[in-house]
Amino acid sequence: MALKVSARGQIPPFIVMDVMRAANERAATGADVLHLEVGQPSTGAPQGVIAAASAALRGDTLGYTDALGIPALRSAIARHYRDRYGIDLDPERVVVTTGSSGAFLLAFLASFDAGDRVGLATPAYPAYRNILRALDLEPVSLEAGPDERYQATVDLVRRAPRPLDGLVVASPANPTGTMLMPEALAALARHCETSGIRLVSDEIYHGITYGPEEATALASSEQAIVINSFSKYFSMTGWRLGWMVVPKPLLRAVECIAQNFFISPPAISQHAAVAAFDCHEELGRNVERYAENRALLLRELPKAGFDRLAPADGAFYLYADVAHLTNDSQEFCRRILRELGIAVTPGVDFDPARGHRTLRISFAGAAATIAEAARRLRAWRP
Ligand SMILES: Cc1ncc(COP(=O)(O)O)c(C=O)c1O
Repeated sequence: MALKVSARGQIPPFIVMDVMRAANERAATGADVLHLEVGQPSTGAPQGVIAAASAALRGDTLGYTDALGIPALRSAIARHYRDRYGIDLDPERVVVTTGSSGAFLLAFLASFDAGDRVGLATPAYPAYRNILRALDLEPVSLEAGPDERYQATVDLVRRAPRPLDGLVVASPANPTGTMLMPEALAALARHCETSGIRLVSDEIYHGITYGPEEATALASSEQAIVINSFSKYFSMTGWRLGWMVVPKPLLRAVECIAQNFFISPPAISQHAAVAAFDCHEELGRNVERYAENRALLLRELPKAGFDRLAPADGAFYLYADVAHLTNDSQEFCRRILRELGIAVTPGVDFDPARGHRTLRISFAGAAATIAEAARRLRAWRP
């Protein structure tokens, strides 16, 4: 007798992971592949982090830690808020997590009950929607376009068909790279507080910006949950470490869920990450490379016919409207991989309703990879 697979387990794949698998299969046959699909730095962790990890390997038993994280790391993260944003943060409110992915699970479980409705500006990072679904929460798509810089606005939140219990924002955002300017984020935070909406602010791309000032929701709301990670600016993707800043009334719930779900975040990554905040010089060089890659693509892509690009204020993505080239972004991406050996991500991953006309190009890779991709795209006649 066939046993059931749960309804909550029937969530869509994270398509970029499927694209990555297709690209790797192609590479395994000996064909070359330029990876512009993955949203991760091509650099390793900074030297100071590696040294701290080696010291921890030799000198620590690396057992379970406190479920909320080792005190040294929670304090280092709290100091980061003072140094970077001028905000005095009690380290007690800092919760270390298994990537920001672990933080989303904790934030959603601690804040919402089954059936609650959580708004997302679409296009959005697909895991928000899929994690919410798996938890029997209802993702509510707030369709944003160029007029809203692809971000949530108070107006879009007000126009949601039924009242929301939560709102997830990301600035800079994946896949568009657009940012919420400080006043727009503050207005959303105020609206959420007065409307009983729990704001969850994904700040994972902070540190990777190209001009505009980045704002943390912590500056405008005591009730917002702020989520961040060591995966992007800190270049520690596979170390699976992130953090959240939690309003005090939610702390105990988050702690109990974290104890039961994870016991603790990875110990070696925590010991190593304490050193990450002393590595800004090395990390800054990565950001300079992203800026050069971005400038190159902004110059070259329009010449290749990709001239409708979202204003990428930060992160390492360009989101291209390719409606004049295709009505099937998945097939179009397969063609780009087949004919040019370049892996890029179809927009349907981020926007199921409108993403058949868009694609995401990641410029996190090495400068030579990005330059070669631009050269091939310019020579291509789609
Ligand atoms: C916007 C956004 N949030 C969260 C994540 C998850 O990152 P991690 O779990 O590595 O912290 C990603 C990964 O690409 C992302 O783009």
